[in-house]
Amino acid sequence: MPELVITAGALIADGAERLRHSGLPEPRREAMRIWSDLAGGGLADIVLGRDQPVDVAAAALFDQAIARRSLGEPLAHVTGWSGFRRLTLLSDSRALIPRPETEGLIDLLLQRVQAGRIVDVGTGSGCIALSLAQEGHFGQVVATDRSTEALTLAQLNRNAVGVAVTFVLADLCQPFHHGAFDALISNPPYLTAAEHSALHPSVRDWEPAAALIGGEDGMLVTMRLLKEGRDVLRPGGWLALEVDCSRAATAAERACSLGWRDVTVHVDLFGRERYLLARRSNNR
Ligand SMILES: C[S@@+](CC[C@H](N)C(=O)[O-])C[C@H]1O[C@@H](n2cnc3c(N)ncnc32)[C@H](O)[C@@H]1O
Repeated sequence: MPELVITAGALIADGAERLRHSGLPEPRREAMRIWSDLAGGGLADIVLGRDQPVDVAAAALFDQAIARRSLGEPLAHVTGWSGFRRLTLLSDSRALIPRPETEGLIDLLLQRVQAGRIVDVGTGSGCIALSLAQEGHFGQVVATDRSTEALTLAQLNRNAVGVAVTFVLADLCQPFHHGAFDALISNPPYLTAAEHSALHPSVRDWEPAAALIGGEDGMLVTMRLLKEGRDVLRPGGWLALEVDCSRAATAAERACSLGWRDVTVHVDLFGRERYLLARRSNNR
């Protein structure tokens, strides 16, 4: 019996149909991305090669990837990578998938400080620390997380990117001495448990809850950073925090009452109040 020949175009069309059936909003785009990751090359190569036969092993890998995605696993986990600013980062269940909102926090900080010593608290995949090491001119970039799994992923990403970042297993910035840093940046967990329960299953069921839930009121880690961040920054040092848009004004009020100066709130690319910037005052 002649061997069944399947073309790349037919394979992608079948994958897109299965993804559409699972209720995913962009089935064709996702099927094409999954195939282009497996086959190598870009979208132009897919178009040019759509009538080419694919080998059985590649078709089986594609089939497995489509099955995982159909069950709701995030695309970044299925393909194993996600893009963040100039970086392509390994992505899996060990850490939060970097979000486009977080990219804006880095711009805000780089507009204010580009040199000295900086700490990224709750680094996850390492996306913030690695971007700062790549784009800034910092003398030292340190990053902490209390998840060993996240730090393992961040270290793999650092080795792939090839920049100098020191990763430390720590509760926030506890190991560091007074005035150790010129800037502290963090995208801490900032959802309430109820908000977390209401998330889309592709986030709630696949990404680490500890990366998302910030205590009962969502403010637990943010408040700790506002209090403990004063100790590790030098006078005048910058604090840059990602915050929940529904609690940005509250976070700014708390920052002012704790003695931070030049407190400002900024919107993200979706127009939501997402970032808090502040400076450590001279008298702490
Ligand atoms: C929202 S994720 C951010 C990850 C990454 N910075 C990003 O922007 O994609 C928050 C991270 O903070 C870490 N984290 C939560 N509580 C922490 C604590 N007390 N000390 C250190 N890291 C903590 C979590 O493990 C998680 O990796």
